Amino acid sequence: MKKIMNASLSLSNIGEKVELHGWVSKKRNLGGLIFIDLRDRSGIVQLVIRPEDNLEMIASDIRNEYVIKVNGTVAERENKNDKLLTGDIEVLVDKIEVLNTALEIPFEVSDETTALEDTRLKYRYLDLRRPKLQENMIMRHKLTMAIRKFLDKENFLEIETPILCKSTPEGARDYLVPSRVNAGKFYALPQSPQIFKQLLMVGGMEKYFQIAKCFRDEDLRADRQPEFTQVDIEMSFVDEDDVMSLAERMIASVFKEVKNIDIDLPLMRMPYDEAMDKYGSDKPDLRFAMPIQDITNIFKNTEISFLKSVVMEGGIVNCLVVNAANRYSRKELDKLTDYVKTYRASGLAYLKLENELTGSLVKNMSEEEKSRIISYLNLKDNDLVLIISGKKNIVKVSLGALRCKLANDLEMINPNDYKLLWVTDFPTFEYSEEEGRYVACHHPFTAPKDCDIKYLEGDLSKCYSKAYDMVINGYEAGGGSIRIHNQEVQNKMFKALGLNDAEVKEKFGFFVEALKYGTPPHGGLAFGLDRLTMLLVKTENIRDVIAFPKTASASCLMSEAPNLVSEQQLKELHIDLRK
Ligand code: AMO
Repeated sequence: MKKIMNASLSLSNIGEKVELHGWVSKKRNLGGLIFIDLRDRSGIVQLVIRPEDNLEMIASDIRNEYVIKVNGTVAERENKNDKLLTGDIEVLVDKIEVLNTALEIPFEVSDETTALEDTRLKYRYLDLRRPKLQENMIMRHKLTMAIRKFLDKENFLEIETPILCKSTPEGARDYLVPSRVNAGKFYALPQSPQIFKQLLMVGGMEKYFQIAKCFRDEDLRADRQPEFTQVDIEMSFVDEDDVMSLAERMIASVFKEVKNIDIDLPLMRMPYDEAMDKYGSDKPDLRFAMPIQDITNIFKNTEISFLKSVVMEGGIVNCLVVNAANRYSRKELDKLTDYVKTYRASGLAYLKLENELTGSLVKNMSEEEKSRIISYLNLKDNDLVLIISGKKNIVKVSLGALRCKLANDLEMINPNDYKLLWVTDFPTFEYSEEEGRYVACHHPFTAPKDCDIKYLEGDLSKCYSKAYDMVINGYEAGGGSIRIHNQEVQNKMFKALGLNDAEVKEKFGFFVEALKYGTPPHGGLAFGLDRLTMLLVKTENIRDVIAFPKTASASCLMSEAPNLVSEQQLKELHIDLRK
């Protein structure tokens, strides 16, 4: 068995005889003296093959990515390499054995590789040999272990729940699995263990967690995968503060343990409405300020025709201020306009304060509007004011996105910063234009605020929930809620969602039945393990933290899943494919 990790060797091992195993990362032949960079999971060590050792025959056949075993002696290097963990030493080889050869590899196994991601995904097993990906997998492992350790100490039980489940129609689209023994019937893969973890509370488990695989057939983004992993938690006899306190202590403890990052507790809390109002997002990135500012009042009696009609129609005029007027030419501003249009904004107006106020609106602004805007926004030299007007939701969301783009473009974010907060008090319902009705913002078991229960039978838009999301650097790292454990409130919730008794029975029958048998008050939350790892290793691509990820079209380029199956398999599953 391999006993030594390359990177463990240092000056303290000088003179020791060692046996090393690994992959050939690089080979250089310097007139008889052959140097090999031997790579294993821990890193690289330099091997030296001297002409007098009669090993050139073997060494000359060795190619990159061959698997070798060497015996040799650790020696101090003459030319030290401070970029390498083992840069003070090298191993003088006495014996060398090729354990396996390798085909010529399609891309260089190094962090500097220029290979396209598709090629790397096709040969993921080679990609995984890159130091960066190995580091990411190690970080993911450490994170998982630290979470398990923390929750075990807090008296939580790790319990597995089924993967073959019943399809429940709320939320994202299900992945379905046909049943061979139950003709025409399907299982659904769990979008999360939500129902099961609540049933574990009914079952008296009191404190549950699971590192759970979840499956959602939804449109993918840079931070979404069709199968991903949650740190899923549920607790009985708790309120919002209990769950949030446990969760933030867990995050602070694991961040400290795996990356020595200090997080100040308790985390700041911001109600959803405030987050949307100030930052145009329910996951505000607070590593920089630049809040959205409301300047509707300044344009109440404006003669600027498009603003006049926005104000008359009950719309709003909001803006961002950034001290970078000199960085944005006409052309750059046109690009920003195109950008906000992708968020359905009708356009982007701007003002610049450079000695005097200039910009697209200035010509039609009254003197009073000009002086009011300068004093209200406290404008300084070189300030750029970016203005969007229209319907509240569109204005907020497009300025929220623009805010993040500006901060990135202007490099306003310190890459070593971590800003965590809770976003709380989410609306219970959101109006679906598509369905023409109110749907649950989270799931139909999320408890409304006690003072808002009355709105379940009234104005649904006024009803807020005992729900909370933990936001880290602009990502939704986790979220959850206190659940409804009162039968009467649950019935009102179903009614508010437009579900009649028969529909409730059909969709959630077994679950609603279970809640009638002495359900304790309970609540919980789930963190995205992939997202937490992304934040810790500082990547914006979720595929970098998953060993075998899927592409944006939910396929695996390496194994070629999903694939066609045989007629025989389909027949056994009672399936005829539509032509
Ligand atoms: P939610 O749907 O908010 O809540 O998911 C919890 C966390 O899981 C992560 N996440 C994802 N990560 C990668 N790819 C995806 N497609 C994806 N979707 C979600 C996010 C998110 O914050 N059952 C509830 C939790 C609860 O109420 O206890 C749930 O699943 O980080």
